[in-house]
Amino acid sequence: MNSQSSQDLDEPKSAKSSVPTTTESMQEEDAPEATFEPTDHGSEWHSQRNRILIALENILLAVEHPVNRIVREPQLNPFYYTGQVAVFVLLVVGATGLYLTLFYQLGFTASYNAIVKIDNQFLAREIRALHRYASGSLIIVSLIHAFRLFVMDRFRGARWLAWVSGVVLVAFAWFVGVTGYLMIWDVRAQAIIVFFTDFLRQNTPFGEAFALAMLAAQTSDQGWVFMFILLTLHVVISLGIALFFWFHIMRLNRPKWTLERHWLIGLGIILVLVSIVVPVGMLPKANVGQLPNAFYFDPIYLFFFFAGSSATSGGLWLALTLVVVLIGAMPWLKLRQEKPQQVMIDKARCSGCAKCVADCPYKAITLLPRTDGRPYKSVAQENLELCVGCGVCIGSCDTQAISLTNLSAPALWQTTLARVAELRARTTGDLEIALTCERHASRVPNKPGVEVIALPCIAAAHPDLVGRLLTTGATQVHIVGCPPEDCGHREGNTWMEARLTRQRAPRLRKVYADSPIFRHWLPPDEFPIPVVASRPSPSASTSSTSAQDGRLLAMTGRRFLPAFVLIAVVFAVQALLTNIPTQLFPAEKAIVQLALVDPMQSAGPWVNTGAQSLRLVFEADGRVMWERRYSMTELKTSGIASMLQEFSVAPGEHHFKFYLVRDEDGRSFVLDEQQVSVQDKQIVPIGLDCSITWRGPNGSTKRCVTAVENVK
Ligand code: HEM
Repeated sequence: MNSQSSQDLDEPKSAKSSVPTTTESMQEEDAPEATFEPTDHGSEWHSQRNRILIALENILLAVEHPVNRIVREPQLNPFYYTGQVAVFVLLVVGATGLYLTLFYQLGFTASYNAIVKIDNQFLAREIRALHRYASGSLIIVSLIHAFRLFVMDRFRGARWLAWVSGVVLVAFAWFVGVTGYLMIWDVRAQAIIVFFTDFLRQNTPFGEAFALAMLAAQTSDQGWVFMFILLTLHVVISLGIALFFWFHIMRLNRPKWTLERHWLIGLGIILVLVSIVVPVGMLPKANVGQLPNAFYFDPIYLFFFFAGSSATSGGLWLALTLVVVLIGAMPWLKLRQEKPQQVMIDKARCSGCAKCVADCPYKAITLLPRTDGRPYKSVAQENLELCVGCGVCIGSCDTQAISLTNLSAPALWQTTLARVAELRARTTGDLEIALTCERHASRVPNKPGVEVIALPCIAAAHPDLVGRLLTTGATQVHIVGCPPEDCGHREGNTWMEARLTRQRAPRLRKVYADSPIFRHWLPPDEFPIPVVASRPSPSASTSSTSAQDGRLLAMTGRRFLPAFVLIAVVFAVQALLTNIPTQLFPAEKAIVQLALVDPMQSAGPWVNTGAQSLRLVFEADGRVMWERRYSMTELKTSGIASMLQEFSVAPGEHHFKFYLVRDEDGRSFVLDEQQVSVQDKQIVPIGLDCSITWRGPNGSTKRCVTAVENVK
């Protein structure tokens, strides 16, 4: 949108301030003024908006309203730039991630030590903080962006691809973030693994195998493969984000994904400052002998810790998956009151001028060579797969060849002008007509003191129609559309501003240059009422700098200051919130971890002594806590499978015994026996296979019992 008002024309202004007649306008302009032929259907726009969405949008507007006050001009409202801000922070995440990868190393201890090194150098530490905080803002900003588009009804029809790919983008970003937290291999990473393992164990057949593999890898500090898989996932899914972003914007004409220079500089400085002021810090290294109990976590990525250690993990993930699928399926849910509108091009009227092709925000119209013998080289062709029914093309067509399914352009002209003529006949004084978009129209109070004509988008009004309102009897015409960067159809307000200021075809005719046409680019809850009382005179509007008369501000750093202060506060709060202290487990709790990695091999010689059945038993302080019986056939065919069981015990002195017992004579074979003074949150390993060198909590090496030695 340019910064001129409708009176700041690029051509000499007419001295007249009275409303020109059609004949006068024909004399001034080369092209004939747009005409209409009466039709009998689709003459008025009926709101297509769903009441629930309008109510939700009202909540959004109630939040945005004070922000507009703080930043002073709607043009500077950060809410209107959420898509671009999401791209910006995504790029910051990508660039800082690349830098950090240069210093990263693979292995449980190696990875942790690499991060410690990073944290010890100023530059690398700040880049790590930038990486962390930009990742957090990515999710928050994307969710706000998604909510805004949802309540603005910008998610169905041809927009489904942007919507669904958006859901995938956030899901991918979340997944990449969680793998990022794992890559540090601190107690928080350990807690994520505990959570994930519990989920697998409760809901899949692979849980025990995964848990044993992790245990084996951790006890022997063989984490290279695991960390390599994590790093690969982290990088590959990040590349997936780039791919889905391409899907995300592929149906948009001129997607706006870059921010204006001031926003870039301001946001960059804010992120750097927040990264310096709120350090990320280090948590203790993951310890396989200790429950990952107290640590700080980031609720944006690790929200599942709110559900406690693991108990509800199955239900939580199921509910979350259902919610995500439901959100992804939104474009196909029946929320609309009426069928979405789509473009219809009357090829016989089309002159192939390509203005609609240039204006369509969604690439839904293309120009084809004309083959029907009419005196034009080309003809416009609609693509219904891509059309969102915004109606911007109606306003760009000089020949009224373009209509929507339920809004015929000729009929719209006919009804609108007839209405104005009728009002003129009844009224002697001022007659104010407001052309507005669906968003505003759904919020106009009952008695606005002005005749309101609703359109799907403000750009559905051809500038000639605007002029004809005046020649038909209106004393003022008010163009009321969405604020800059917040058009419900991306570019409608921009094109309308440019048409009325004669920057873009179809231009407002020169003859209307000094006519009382006022432009109001305002949030939908700020319909200018009463227009008569608030409106400036046409000449006053020219010199005013208020966005109410359509002028856009020149962007200077000073003007951005309130917006930047607001963003800085939000970013700082977000950074502080990434460090929520948590206490996952109840006080006074320790765990005994019963693990058999290869017990069949160990018990093999004993089995061969001719036993009929065996029991595997775990005793704590002389009390049987767990046992499992195996028949001889079972033992000979499938053996005793690998297993991992966990038991809670109170801290204190305990005696643990893990053994096999032969049923027919009660003779036992001890796999492991320990007298342990169990500390709070300690994990006591029992029965690990001899192939694993077990490092105990104090660095001690656990003695391993082998079956062969014990067979009697
Ligand atoms: C990584 C996260 C995301 C980024 C970087 C991003 C960025 C963008 C950008 C730059 C645009 C183009 C804006 C324009 O030119 O008008 C856009 C449009 C869009 N985004 Fe996102 N977005 C993200 C997430 C989401 C999510 C989570 C959703 C919804 C679930 C979503 C839904 C949409 C839709 C529907 C449009 C098209 C709007 C329209 O056609 O009117 N986006 N996004």
